Amino acid sequence: MMSLNNKTILLGITGGIAAYKSPELVRQLIKQGAKVKVVMTDAATHFVTPTTLQAVSGNPVFISQWDARIPNGMPHIELSRDVDAILIAPVSADFMAKLSLGLADDLLSTLCLARGHESNGVLSDCPLLITPSMNRQMWEHVATQRSVEKLLQDQVILLGPASGDQACGEVGMGRMLEPVEICEALIAFFQPKLLQGKKVLITAGPTYEPIDPVRGLTNRSSGKMGFAIARAALEAGATVHLIAGPVSLETPLAYSGKITRVNVMSAADMHAAVMAHPDCDLFFSVAAVADWRVNHIAEQKIKKQSASDIPAFDLVQNPDILLEFAKKSVNQHPFCIGFAAETQNLIDHGKKKLLAKNIPLLIANHGPSTFGEDHNQITLIDAQGESHFGPADKISLARDVIREVSKRL
Ligand code: CTP
Repeated sequence: MMSLNNKTILLGITGGIAAYKSPELVRQLIKQGAKVKVVMTDAATHFVTPTTLQAVSGNPVFISQWDARIPNGMPHIELSRDVDAILIAPVSADFMAKLSLGLADDLLSTLCLARGHESNGVLSDCPLLITPSMNRQMWEHVATQRSVEKLLQDQVILLGPASGDQACGEVGMGRMLEPVEICEALIAFFQPKLLQGKKVLITAGPTYEPIDPVRGLTNRSSGKMGFAIARAALEAGATVHLIAGPVSLETPLAYSGKITRVNVMSAADMHAAVMAHPDCDLFFSVAAVADWRVNHIAEQKIKKQSASDIPAFDLVQNPDILLEFAKKSVNQHPFCIGFAAETQNLIDHGKKKLLAKNIPLLIANHGPSTFGEDHNQITLIDAQGESHFGPADKISLARDVIREVSKRL
């Protein structure tokens, strides 16, 4: 899926060593369907050549405000009018200071001051996103932090910086985000803010029910769909709390906020973590919760006594977290969404679960073909009927789910 289709991005490049990553960033943006126009400062040309950027972007590169290639001689006006966002990557400490003061002494700074997006004859604000890159001392300097504060007040969107190894050999805050991360952040920025101000609770992944200190009962859920829902909800402007079973996934990031996360192991832990969060507007119960646990967990590893020895386990049922949470909801608040991974009769089982759990929406999918995969097909089932989405990657499906849920709120 090309998430930046029909978007034109003006990529500004300023003088910093991270400019060597700019051609890769252009490639990433184009891969996502964007049209990219590049404007460089003079200093940037010391780190990467305009020829390279022209080749990868497929468009002429602009550096000087006196560039005569724009017919009316006003590149600082004309270059921003048809763009959906200006992204400056890397942005130097010097350029941030200039932007915060409104200085306009070269093409890129003048263009940022004069920026406007024109559509059907109406001129609106053209968003400005910046990705800082500098030595940690420069980043932490009070003057740079003053620029940051002013730029945030001026609605400039800051992506990063990250912490880590720096080109100068020091380690700390000030690294530019990687091109893939910048591209992801830009995609997130363009998502409609359908859940702005909403509090979203999500469970994801499997649970693990111990038998003894080294063995347990679990299932094949990877948590990818739940984590994709968390990311899509964050992108849509929600405050997200994620309760994750044992998975090896990083907490998703978006440019505009942070997901709070707790890790749990068993269904009982997940149950307690969910019940501790009654104050939410939406509950996505994506986790594949184990239905049973072993009644008495052995304190030591169970040993094989003989060749024919087969241990017997006394299983008890786990609480149904979604059922219990939905029961507490008065007048469908919070709005609860169930997920069902089936092996057969998807729609039938899905409809039964919708009724049994008394929830307004259930999302069914075929378990074995999706566990651990990056792609899926889902069926949304509610009182009105069924709708199918996919096959598609899980983040695209998660965005579809957010859109469909927001219609039902
Ligand atoms: N669920 C839950 N707590 C449980 C079992 C399931 O919260 N103990 C939730 C899941 O997170 C999911 C929905 O209920 O949103 C359906 O889960 P699923 O395992 O498909 O269904 P079950 O109700 O467990 O029924 P069965 O195992 O018989 O298919």
